[in-house]
Amino acid sequence: MYPLEDGCFAPRNQWYVAAWLSEISRTPKERMILDEPVILYRTQADEIVALAGLCPHRGFPLASGKLIGDDIECPYHGLRFGPDGACTLIPSQDTIPAACRLRSYPVAARWQWLWIWMGDPALADETLIPDHVEAKLVDTDFRNAGGNYYLVPGRYVLLHDNLLDLNHVPFLHRDSFGGDGGGAIQVPEVTVHENIVTCSFSQPNIACPPFLSELLGYDGPVARQYISYFYAPCMHVIWDSISKLDPETGKAEPLGALLHIHAVTPATKNTAHYFQGEGQDFSHTEPCLAEVFRSSELVSKALDEDVSATRLIEQSIAACHGRIPEILLKADKAAVLGRRILQAMIRAEDGGQSHRLEPADAMPAA
Ligand code: FES
Ligand SMILES: [Fe+2]
Repeated sequence: MYPLEDGCFAPRNQWYVAAWLSEISRTPKERMILDEPVILYRTQADEIVALAGLCPHRGFPLASGKLIGDDIECPYHGLRFGPDGACTLIPSQDTIPAACRLRSYPVAARWQWLWIWMGDPALADETLIPDHVEAKLVDTDFRNAGGNYYLVPGRYVLLHDNLLDLNHVPFLHRDSFGGDGGGAIQVPEVTVHENIVTCSFSQPNIACPPFLSELLGYDGPVARQYISYFYAPCMHVIWDSISKLDPETGKAEPLGALLHIHAVTPATKNTAHYFQGEGQDFSHTEPCLAEVFRSSELVSKALDEDVSATRLIEQSIAACHGRIPEILLKADKAAVLGRRILQAMIRAEDGGQSHRLEPADAMPAA
C-alpha cells in the first residue's frame, strides 16, 4: 500500500513501541498494533504482559475483562487466561481445548517505553532494539521526558515521511514555531548505515523561538544544527544544538542541546501511534522542555499541525483510491531512504507474502 509496494503494510519481525510504561497498570489497556488488538497489563509482581486482545471463545474484547490475580477473565462467559496466554479456566467444562489460548507477545522495557515484538517470537532478539545509550535516551547529561501520545488518523509511513522531512518546518509550522525559520532548511546530508538513516541540516541564523527563549533565558539570534537519526522501523531521535550568534562578529557560542524523541508504530492500515518526548542538556530546573511541550499552546499547535497534515494526506490517498501522485525532490532523500528500508524489511520476511493484504483491501495499482 502507498507509499510502499502494493499489498505491503509493515514489517512484523521488528520491535515497536507499544506504550509509555506509565500507561500500563493493573487495568488492562487495549492498543491496536499492526492491525491486531493487543491488551497490556501488569502482574502483581509488576511484570508487563502483552496478550492478544480478543477472547478465542467468541471474540469478546478482553480489555474490559477483570484481572483475577495475574489472570484475565473474559467478561462474556468467564474464561480465564494466564500471563503466558494459556487458558486456566472454562467455568462450564473441565477440559480445556489445546487451541483455547491467547497469543502472548514478547515485550521489553527500555527508557520510558514498552517495546513489543509482533512477529515470530523465536526471532525476538532484544539486541535489535535501538541502542538507547547511543541515542542518548538514557544519557544522564540529558533531561529526557516522554509521555506525549497521539493516535494519528493517517498511515504510519506518512508520519515517518514527516519526521524525516524537516523542510516542512518553516512552512507547515509558519504560525507556530517555524515562523522565522529563515526559509527552506539547507538541503540535508543523508547517510544510511544498516537500519539507521542519519540526516544533518542547519538553520544558520534565526530568531530564538519563544519556547526556547524561556528555557535558555536568551532571545537573540541563534544558529541551530540538527542531526536526525531514524532507527527503522520505529524510532526517531533528533539532536538539536543551539548556539548564540554574536550579531557583530557572527561568532557562535553553544547554548545547549535538545533531544526531540519520537516513536511511530502502525496501529491499523491507516492509523498510527505517535509517542513523543523531549530532552535537554541545560537548565535542569523547572519546567523542562517536555513539560513545556505538554503545556504550551504554541508547541501543541505545532504537533497538531503535523498530525493534521498526516490526516489530510491520508484523506487525499482515500480520495485517489489508494495511491497519490508525487514528485520527489532532493530534500525528500531521507524520507525516500526510510521508505526503502521499510520496504526491504517487509521483503525480507517471506518475500513480503505474509504481509500482503487480503484482495479486498489491496490498493489499485498507480
Ligand atoms: S467470549 Fe470470552 S468467554 Fe465467551
Ligand atoms: Fe513538523
